Amino acid sequence: MKILVIGSGAREHALCYLISKSSLVSSIYAIPGNYGISQLAECEQIDQTDFEKIYDFCKSKMIELVIVGPEVPLVAGIVDFLKEKEIKIFGPDKYASQLEGSKGFMKDLCKQNSIPTADYARFDNKEEAINYLNAQSLPIVIKADGLAAGKGVTVADTKKMAEQAINDIFDEKFGANMDVVIEEFMDGEEASYFVCCDGEDFVSLESAQDHKRIGENDTGPNTGGMGAYSPAPIFTPKIKEQVDREIITPTLKALKKNGHPYKGILYAGLMIKDGYARLVEYNIRFGDPECQVLMLRMKNDLIKLILDCLEGSLSKTKLEWEDDNSATVVVAAKGYPGDYKKNTKIIGYENFESNDLFQVFHAGTKHDGNNLLANGGRVLSVTAKNKNLRDALNMIYAYIGQLDWPDGYYRRDIGKKAIK
Ligand code: AMP
Ligand code: GLY
Repeated sequence: MKILVIGSGAREHALCYLISKSSLVSSIYAIPGNYGISQLAECEQIDQTDFEKIYDFCKSKMIELVIVGPEVPLVAGIVDFLKEKEIKIFGPDKYASQLEGSKGFMKDLCKQNSIPTADYARFDNKEEAINYLNAQSLPIVIKADGLAAGKGVTVADTKKMAEQAINDIFDEKFGANMDVVIEEFMDGEEASYFVCCDGEDFVSLESAQDHKRIGENDTGPNTGGMGAYSPAPIFTPKIKEQVDREIITPTLKALKKNGHPYKGILYAGLMIKDGYARLVEYNIRFGDPECQVLMLRMKNDLIKLILDCLEGSLSKTKLEWEDDNSATVVVAAKGYPGDYKKNTKIIGYENFESNDLFQVFHAGTKHDGNNLLANGGRVLSVTAKNKNLRDALNMIYAYIGQLDWPDGYYRRDIGKKAIK
């Protein structure tokens, strides 16, 4: 089969890595891809939301299956668009994609279906938002009601900080016309849980734990994710059973009832405390960097899983995972998630043996013919698996230690909490 992967991050590089192992695949294409992906796929520079051009590309290359990595084209309706033109595509439709695209939609759906999540209120007016805020206790969480690449959320310890976050959203710092969602702060430990749904049934993928803050010991601003490991020990079989029953199943039922059965990967961001999980957020895709750690552990043929999902036969699918622990550490450009330099040279990136245990997935990289250059915020996602997490992390940090890239930054404490 000819496969097209949409996206340009380390998540899509990891997807291409597993896709390239599938016996069902003859060639892989990527829009727009990156330097790492170009080692496995033919990359084409098309805007991820230019659906007409993507469709023309699919026709010209006789693409048989499109796999979408990031949320932006999904929320913009790429699945509805290509499906109508009879191109096979994996992911939820535009309606179901609101689970991630609109925090208000997601919170309303939870409320209507008694899904455990933080209490909230939604405002399109600054004065009402501030009045509500003044009646709440601290800490409190302020969110922009739309896609903001993980940056539209503020966990505020003071009223001043919360007010500033509300002002930023109404000043359109994260995009035009966004409402404000004010949420109860949930204490606990976070985990990411993934399921693959065919509209009727779902299969559980494994759990992972992401490190969202830029600084060590989970300090500083939120990022897209600075590292991850899988499995997440906090996500016990008992929690899984509760999440499947109280969160995933009612969500899928509600979407089906509304005429938009969910097909694709559903990612539940969870807050776990005292043996009970509540939903923080839904994403409509694999996580980045969680995808990297899952792809190294998945034993199944990913394309077979996706085809089963599209055919609606997941009830017969059994997923298998390596017992190993996997981890990934993101190497970012210094300054990220704020401003950072572009086109800085990374030396030594090719010094590793690429195998089932160790992979360097690229995000913001390009090659000028001589050198590998960093051209994004998150740049490399160095990923390993081993019998125990500590050994996997040792492999990763040994590789990063030999990189010659003075403009790079990474957290040295990824996975620390899970190592007893
Ligand atoms: P979101 O984009 O909604 O996932 O939020 C990003 C991050 O903000 C989450 O991963 C949490 O770390 C934090 N967060 C969001 N909502 C809450 C909440 N209600 N209580 C505590 N932390 C939260
Ligand atoms: N790792 C968080 C995300 O993909 O949204």
